[in-house]
Amino acid sequence: MKITGETKVLGIFGYPVRHSLSPLMQNAALEHLGLDYIYLPFEVRPEQLETAIKGIRALGISGVNVTIPHKEKVIPFLDEVTEEASLIGSVNTIENKNGKLIGHNTDSRGYIRSLREDAGFDPKGKTILVIGAGGAAKGIIFGLFLEGASKITIANRTIEKAKKVEDTLRATGKKIEIESIPFLALKDPRILSSIDLIVNTTSMGLEGGSPDIDFSLTPEHVLVSDIVYKPPVTPFLKKAQDAGRRTLGGLGMLIYQGAISLEIWTSQKAPVEVMRNSLAPFLNPCKP
Ligand code: ATR
Repeated sequence: MKITGETKVLGIFGYPVRHSLSPLMQNAALEHLGLDYIYLPFEVRPEQLETAIKGIRALGISGVNVTIPHKEKVIPFLDEVTEEASLIGSVNTIENKNGKLIGHNTDSRGYIRSLREDAGFDPKGKTILVIGAGGAAKGIIFGLFLEGASKITIANRTIEKAKKVEDTLRATGKKIEIESIPFLALKDPRILSSIDLIVNTTSMGLEGGSPDIDFSLTPEHVLVSDIVYKPPVTPFLKKAQDAGRRTLGGLGMLIYQGAISLEIWTSQKAPVEVMRNSLAPFLNPCKP
C-alpha cells in the first residue's frame, strides 16, 4: 500500500473496535477501485466522542463509520442528519462534506439491499414479523416501513420496548399496520400463518440460542432471515432450513451497509463481491 501526501483518510470509531471487520472489507474495496484512500480503526472512548468528532473536521478526515456504543450518542455533535437516520435515532456513517458533518444510517438500507440482491425479496406490500426491538431491530423496522411493507409485527421479550418502536412509527402519520406482541405469542399459529418474512434481530444466535418458532406453521414461501453473520447458519436459520424454508444470513447486511457507506464517501459503485471475498477467510477460518 502506497501512502502519499494526497492519501485521504476514512475510518471507524468504536469502543472496542478491534473486532471490527470494516477495515478489512473497506481497504480491500478501496484497493480494488484504485482509490488513494486508507481506512483505519480508531478506538474512541465514550468520554472522548465529542473531541473525536471535532477531530474529523480538524484533521480533514473524509468520513467515518460509527459503531457500538456511539451510534446514538453521536447525533448531537453532527451538523445534519438524514431523515432516515433521525427516524431510526442512530447514525453509523458520517460524511465530511467540505467541513459539514452529515450523519447517515446505512445499516437499514444495507439490510434492505441484502434482502433484494441476495434473496430477491421486495418488502413492498409484505407482511413481516420482526423478532427483537433493540437498536438493530429499529433500523430494520424503519427500513421495511420506508420500503412500503403493509404489516409489521414486532415480537419482543420486553414488550414495552416494542411498543416504543411502534409509537415512533405511528407518530410519522404514514399508513402502516403495526402491532407489538410478547415473545410468548410467537407460539400462536395465527401470528405465523400469513407471514412473508421473519427477521430475527435478537442477539440469541451469538450464544447458540434461538427464538422458539414452529416453522411448519409458516407459509412455504416464507423467507427467514437472521442478522447474526457468525455462524453463517445460526440455530434459528438451521431450524427454518430443516423445515424446508428459505433463509438469509446476516453477512449481506454487513457487506451492503459498508458498500453504501463507501458509495457515500467516494461516489463510486462499491465492489460488493471483493468486499464479500475479503471476509471469507475470517468467517470460515477452516476453509482456504
Ligand atoms: P442490538 O443493538 O444488537 O439490537 P440490543 O439493543 O441489546 O442489541 O437488543 C438485543 C435484542 O435481543 C433485544 O430485543 C433483546 O430483548 P429485550 O429487549 O427484551 O432485552 C433481545 N434478546 C437478547 N437476548 C435475549 C433472550 N435471551 N431472549 C429473548 N430476547 C433476547
